[in-house]
Amino acid sequence: MRDLPNTQVSMSGNALYTDLSGYYDLMCADIDYQAQSHCVQRLQQLFGNGGCHHLDLACGTGPHVRHFLDAGYSSSGLDINQPMLDRAALRCPEARFSCQDMCTFQIEQPVDLITCFLYSIHYSASIERLTACIASVHAALASGGVFCFNAVDKQRIDNASFVSHSAQHGDGQFRFSSGWYYRGEGEQQALRLRIERSQAQKTEVWHDEHPMVAVSFSELQALLAPYFEVQVLEHDYQRLLPWDGQSGNAFFACTRR
Ligand SMILES: C[S@@+](CC[C@H](N)C(=O)[O-])C[C@H]1O[C@@H](n2cnc3c(N)ncnc32)[C@H](O)[C@@H]1O
Repeated sequence: MRDLPNTQVSMSGNALYTDLSGYYDLMCADIDYQAQSHCVQRLQQLFGNGGCHHLDLACGTGPHVRHFLDAGYSSSGLDINQPMLDRAALRCPEARFSCQDMCTFQIEQPVDLITCFLYSIHYSASIERLTACIASVHAALASGGVFCFNAVDKQRIDNASFVSHSAQHGDGQFRFSSGWYYRGEGEQQALRLRIERSQAQKTEVWHDEHPMVAVSFSELQALLAPYFEVQVLEHDYQRLLPWDGQSGNAFFACTRR
């Protein structure tokens, strides 16, 4: 994670979802969006009402929305950063996208399934706003609707652990790194991202630090319980297994009460 000599370094809050949004899909090139979408469709068959109206919270550039549309859903997306939504609209011209905060959003008609992938629910950033997000999701779901998302348990974060990958692009050679940071107390954790672009003799590095809400799974279950019947599952998109009580990542399938 050390920066190189002759390198221009930018510290920022949120470059990845704004100025660098054109590289977001490159960063996520290794993610199996189809498997994630298919897994949630199975969960909806098991725990949901059988309806086909779907909303993806923090939808980013719309990869999940694309897969839900292709599977026959009437799918829509919501995100707080318009540059991400502009890309989503190009990928999914038939879908509706709205620029809203997932903690205060409203929709015209209830939907049957709401998703929030890639730990994005943590962008609610505080317990108070996470609670508001859960209440907004509940209000937006039809009877028997399902809310699916993944989360990380603050008590199981390893600050030394991060993932990296490299990619070639017309604008240069890229290296992306990301990891969680939790200082061991309180309701704030951070997602730390490092994006490095090398072209010719020049290297630029962006350090994004995203404030996120920190919760334990028991706290999260307590927040969800008044609104949902909750299934906590292992973070495995191939097999549906109950959470083993140990893993730091889990998938939540929540049926509206
Ligand atoms: C890690 S990306 C995930 C994008 C997409 N779900 C995926 O799986 O590729 C997180 C997304 O959350 C969005 N976001 C951050 N805070 C938000 C908020 N308060 N309300 C809605 N979207 C938010 C960002 O703009 C970004 O597109």
